[in-house]
Formats: sequence, C-alpha cells, structure tokens
Amino acid sequence: MATILKTDDQAVRTAASALAEGKLVAIPTETVYGLAADATNGDAVAGIFEAKGRPHFNPLICHVSDIDMAERYAVIDPLSRRLMHAFWPGPLTLVLPLKPDTAIHPLVAAGLDTIALRMPRGVAGKIIAALDHPLAAPSANTSGKISGTSAEAVNEDLGARISLILDAGPSEVGLESTIVKLDGTRVALLRPGGLAAEDIESVIGTRLERIDQRAAIEAPGMMASHYAPSARVRLNVHDVREGEALLAFGPSRAQKAENASATLNLSETGNLREAAANLFDFMKRLDRLKRPVIAVEPIPFEGLGEAINDRLVRAAAPRDAAIAEMDEIK
Ligand code: TXA
Ligand code: MG
Repeated sequence: MATILKTDDQAVRTAASALAEGKLVAIPTETVYGLAADATNGDAVAGIFEAKGRPHFNPLICHVSDIDMAERYAVIDPLSRRLMHAFWPGPLTLVLPLKPDTAIHPLVAAGLDTIALRMPRGVAGKIIAALDHPLAAPSANTSGKISGTSAEAVNEDLGARISLILDAGPSEVGLESTIVKLDGTRVALLRPGGLAAEDIESVIGTRLERIDQRAAIEAPGMMASHYAPSARVRLNVHDVREGEALLAFGPSRAQKAENASATLNLSETGNLREAAANLFDFMKRLDRLKRPVIAVEPIPFEGLGEAINDRLVRAAAPRDAAIAEMDEIK
C-alpha cells in the first residue's frame, strides 16, 4: 500500500521531489483526486497509463499553478483569458492551441496540437509551483472504475501501484472538471462537469456549442481529437517494402529492413513503457518525411502494448468519406 500524507508544507515538498524524480503521486484537487506525473517527463506520463491499466491513450489534462504557467504552453486569446480570470482556480479545463516545441511531452496531448489546461484549487497548485512544471493528471482510479474522491478510495484502488498519496479529505466538488474547447472562433462544451455550462455562458455571452462526443468516439480514427498521420499506416509488418518509413520495435528487426527510407525504433530493448513515451513523437517525425506509408512492426498486446496498438489501429483506419463529413460539422 502507498504512504498517505496529510497535506502540510512538508508533504508538498515530498510530493514535488517524488514528481521531479519521475514518480507518480496521487494528489487532491477540488474536483476529484488526480494521478499525477511531471508533464515534461514522457516515461512518467507513460507510467500513468500503465498504473490506470488504460487500454487507450486519451489526451490528459495538464494542471498549472497560474495563468503565467499556462502561457508558456498554450496560445491564450482574449476570450480564454476572460474565462481563466472568471473561473481559475476552479473546475474548468480549457482546450487551447498548443505552442510548438514546448517542454510538455507529446504523450500528454496524445500527439494532438491542442492542450487541455486547468488550474486546480487547493494544495495541488502549491505542488505544481514547487515543481515548476505542469502536472499531467487523469482521475486517480483504474480504468473503468469511478473516480477517486478520497485518499482511502485511491489507496484501495491504486495503492499497490503507486508509492505516495496526499490526503486533503474528501473532494469538494466530487465530479470532474467541465471541459471547453476554444479555437479562436468556436467555444464548444466537450465534457459537462463541476462548473455549470450556464455559468460559462454568462461570461462569454453566447451559448456553448454542444458536441456529441459519443458519436465521435464511435467512429474510431476519425474523431477530431485523434492524431492521424497523413501517411498511410501499415501494421504488423514483417517485410518492409521499398521506400516505406519504418517504425520498428524491439531487437528483432523486420525482413528487408534495408528497403526502409527511414527507421525509428520505439524501443530497441522492447520496453513498452519506453515505446509508449516515444510513440506520438516518432509517428510525427516519420510523417514529416512525407513517405506514402509508415510501416509498423508488431507490438505485443501485453501491458501498455494494448494502448499502443489501439492508437496504431486508429492511425491506420481508412479516413476518406467520413473525414469529409467530420470536416463539415467542424
Ligand atoms: O477534474 C478533472 O478534470 C480531473 C482532475 C484530476 O483534474 N481530471 C480528469 O482527467 O478528469 P481525465 O484524464 O480523466 O480526463 C481528460 C479528458 C480526456 O478524456 C479528453 O476527453 C479531454 O480531457 N481532453 C484532454 N486533452 C484534450 C484535447 N487536447 N482535446 C480534446 N479533449 C481533451
Ligand atoms: Mg477519469
């Protein structure tokens, strides 16, 4: 079981140094407890998915200690700023354009060019300020279970897989944050949550667009929030064809590897956590070479391999007619 510390100044320092070492720490926020990792450390972020047993790499919310920290990573337009001033710290997450080449690891946003940012209330902000890096944190529960809203619940569910939990008593809101996406023209409600949509609407002066997330999720590979390379993706490749870009995995190389016009190996040693941390970055690097096909060596389905394969299958899904339809709704 994990160590549980009451949230005094000493606990804040202990949590910040564990996070700086790349460890996972469960932290209280006003909505629910979060399973936090340093958002600039890919290996630690991959550890979140491992600990939650998540079969997919959903993009994670990045928690900041103030608006200045948000500004380091995202493009903040006047309307976004108005919402931050009105509701931060609090249960409002804003999905904003991600600035290029920031220190945030690409696994946090699952390879997207947007980033979900939130400034939580309470001790979480002190931990983030002490670390001076944002924290990637989904709700602290294993995949498929309900979100942890007390240190005891988190310990029961995840205690065997993490070493430290900070205890600030039961979560004040008990429901995840409301997620709103702003892209300069539209303001869309992506997830209803702890801040009422009406409260947001009264600040922006218009109604929020409602997006039917379920419909989007049921079209795998086509959801606007799924990273899709422009190259075609060929999976479980044993034989490389002339001119393909090769995404390799492990020590056993594919046949005819010399056919590849470029090769990146997700993990030479076959370490799935390392592969998860490299996945989105390497896909993008190969895609930038503008080869017609990215060929991917087989990835085992165990542990994080399931989430890696889920993403690869989505990246490989044909997207033609359906994508055109999605573009129209956008
Ligand atoms: O209250 C909360 O929001 C809690 C506490 C810990 O802060 N966190 C939380 O995180 O609920 P999580 O990982 O369970 O939910 C994150 C959701 C994703 O499933 C996705 O729907 C959305 O946020 N999201 C994150 N980044 C996104 C992006 N770039 N574009 C669209 N949606 C995004
Ligand atoms: Mg959750």
